[in-house]
Amino acid sequence: MGRTLAAAAAVLVVALLLCYSYEARGEETDDVKESLVEFLATLAGGGDAGQATARALGWDESVDPCPGATGNGNASKWGRQVVCFNNGDRNAGKIKAIDLQSQNLNGTIDASLLCAAPALRMVNLQNNSLTGGLPAGVSACAGLTHFFVDHNRLSGSLPSSLGQSRKLAVLDVSGNSFSGELPDSFRQIPGLVRFVANDNNFQGTIPDFNLPNFLSFNVSSNNLTGPIPKNVGTFGLSSFADNAAGMCGKPLFPECPPPPTPGNDGERKSKKTRKVFMYLGYVLLGCVIAGFVVYKLCSRKRKNKLGKKARGRRVKDTFDSSSDPTTMTTTVSKSVSAYSLPASSERSPTAAARGAPSASLVVLRRSGTGSVTSTAAAAAAKDLRFEDLLKSPAELLGRGRYGSSYKVVVPGGAALAVKRVKDATVTDDEFRRRMERVARARHPAVLPPLAFYCAAQEKLVVYEYQSSGSLHRLLHGSIESSQAPLDWPARLHIATKVAEGMAFMHSAMRGDGASSYASSTSSSVETVATAGEVAIAHGTLKSSNILFTTSMEPCISEYGVIAPPFVAGVSTGGSSRSSGLRADVRAFGVLLLELLTGKATAAQGDGSELARWVTSVIQEEWTAEVFDRALLSRDGAVNEQRMVRLLQVAMRCIDAAPGEAPPTMREVAGMVNAIRDEDDRSLSAEA
Ligand SMILES: *[C@@H]1O[C@H](CO)[C@@H](O)[C@H](O)[C@H]1NC(C)=O
Ligand SMILES: *[C@@H]1O[C@H](CO)[C@@H](O)[C@H](O)[C@H]1NC(C)=O
Ligand SMILES: *[C@@H]1O[C@H](CO)[C@@H](O)[C@H](O)[C@H]1NC(C)=O
Ligand SMILES: *[C@@H]1O[C@H](CO)[C@@H](O)[C@H](O)[C@H]1NC(C)=O
Ligand SMILES: *[C@@H]1O[C@H](CO)[C@@H](O)[C@H](O)[C@H]1NC(C)=O
Repeated sequence: MGRTLAAAAAVLVVALLLCYSYEARGEETDDVKESLVEFLATLAGGGDAGQATARALGWDESVDPCPGATGNGNASKWGRQVVCFNNGDRNAGKIKAIDLQSQNLNGTIDASLLCAAPALRMVNLQNNSLTGGLPAGVSACAGLTHFFVDHNRLSGSLPSSLGQSRKLAVLDVSGNSFSGELPDSFRQIPGLVRFVANDNNFQGTIPDFNLPNFLSFNVSSNNLTGPIPKNVGTFGLSSFADNAAGMCGKPLFPECPPPPTPGNDGERKSKKTRKVFMYLGYVLLGCVIAGFVVYKLCSRKRKNKLGKKARGRRVKDTFDSSSDPTTMTTTVSKSVSAYSLPASSERSPTAAARGAPSASLVVLRRSGTGSVTSTAAAAAAKDLRFEDLLKSPAELLGRGRYGSSYKVVVPGGAALAVKRVKDATVTDDEFRRRMERVARARHPAVLPPLAFYCAAQEKLVVYEYQSSGSLHRLLHGSIESSQAPLDWPARLHIATKVAEGMAFMHSAMRGDGASSYASSTSSSVETVATAGEVAIAHGTLKSSNILFTTSMEPCISEYGVIAPPFVAGVSTGGSSRSSGLRADVRAFGVLLLELLTGKATAAQGDGSELARWVTSVIQEEWTAEVFDRALLSRDGAVNEQRMVRLLQVAMRCIDAAPGEAPPTMREVAGMVNAIRDEDDRSLSAEA
């Protein structure tokens, strides 16, 4: 009885709270209004002068700054320095941004007053004469994504509590007199994409930020030392210049010296430790020698026992096997050279397949018509024998979760790419059928397999080698590469071509007989699939599998080579069929995110972390922050709309809204094409 009463009371309380917060959603409370007016007065130096400044700017606690649904959009009754949430927004009626830049403010920042408005997203205080420090209380502004305090006279150290600001994306503290260390906790701000701290007096070392995730970063003109972050991404010297001479770390500075020997008591102590280490070394060496002698004695004893009968040969035996190591080495190296390949092919993809006599190389393509493959490579593939692959020098191109790739130059000079497949889930028969079906579908954006090899322990797929590299290298390659960053039209072109190629392949590989997809004039499908066969998905679509031809046209490599767990096996059920294709659509979404953000996915990940990051930033309506700097620096606003639309396509590919069917590859290709067409139209309109 008492329990039911308590439960009912709890429900009532919760309901009241909900009602209250629902009510409160409409406008800022009196408390918030008073706090904000006081905040501005404090910024302006406090006292009567501060109050006067606040009034002069139009901040008045007796006026509702954002009259919600009844007002007009985001304009505030408090004047131009205040921006409200838009009418449709969940936070409609509240203040979204405060922009007090260049207002000659000479007071201090009071975080507790500011953070009384919890919905606040952006605060801009740049180019004033603010003094004092950056208070730790700023981390209480839970919704804050953008915070600018640059070009003031602020001092003291940055509060490490700011590392708890989960939403913070942009922090600019440059051009002040801050000192102390850059808090290591800033590395934990998940969505931080701009950190600008140049022209201060920061000391110590730079936290090991993951800079490839940043859109801007600048710590130059401070008093920092030591190693730069391990991965500087595309940031150059100007982000680190003019710091204390101790700056080190590749690729911008000389290699860092090894960490100093322990003990800060000067030379004497370190000399002493070095001596200790030296003696320790001698002792260890002694132990090893003693152990070796004991071992030899023991093995000699055993040999003596074994050699009871052949007493005459005993001495010679002992001599041969133990005292003369050269005999042993020569036999060993002889046996190796009898089997192994020339030196350069020591890592040959085919080395492990030596023991399989019956299997042979299946050449798939005898003519190069209607495909991306050059005639030279097709000709080389025509007469290709497994022994050629075995004998030719191989160069490791890359290693992945599902096997390694090698460049192999066969006799005749043609360069081939050999994928060595590490996938135990597919049977040999199934693998053979998959490769034959994939090879029969031709599309200019899909690299066809030229040949494959399938034996018990070894599966190889042979392609023409593409010397122009992969999309992964082009997007995330080192800054030494001479290529200019890919611009927006180029990225949209890649997205369109890959979407078309994937849509074509999905249609051709569906296995339900539906194989006519006429997206491109030069593509053709023979009878690729018969009804009832399992759909073949790409399986490992990612930026390192998008290669470029010599004319820099994108082409999809390694289609169907791997059947990830959910499509492996022989099940022909509809769910397994669609899950593989669905996974491809999702992978294409991640590929779009990479194109738009310029960020790499985690090495072994599936792109979830990139998707999460993008979601966390765009949820805060600062969509532009996710785009690659290389895209935005050019002609901004015009393209941005279409970038946002492509971003929406990417997000639909990754996570369809609840109750909404995920799009098929063909639908995705349609959407990407529409964006491309619009882009073309706007370009010709500009011309
Ligand atoms: C107000 O909202 C409109 C769109 O609703 C937007 O174009 C405009 O930039 C916003 N103004 C400010 C100051 O944010
Ligand atoms: C900084 O503010 C002053 C006025 O306080 C203004 O004259 C100047 O143009 C501003 N500088 C920038 C870069 O906004
Ligand atoms: C701030 O500026 C006002 C005038 O704008 C002046 O009266 C006041 O003394 C200044 N305060 C400080 C601390 O410099
Ligand atoms: C730079 O930092 C060192 C300590 O790391 C300090 O001794 C030196 O005074 C600083 N230089 C300046 C200009 O602040
Ligand atoms: C970093 O700031 C300095 C000014 O201190 C500027 O010269 C440099 O261009 C900036 N670098 C970047 C990458 O913004």
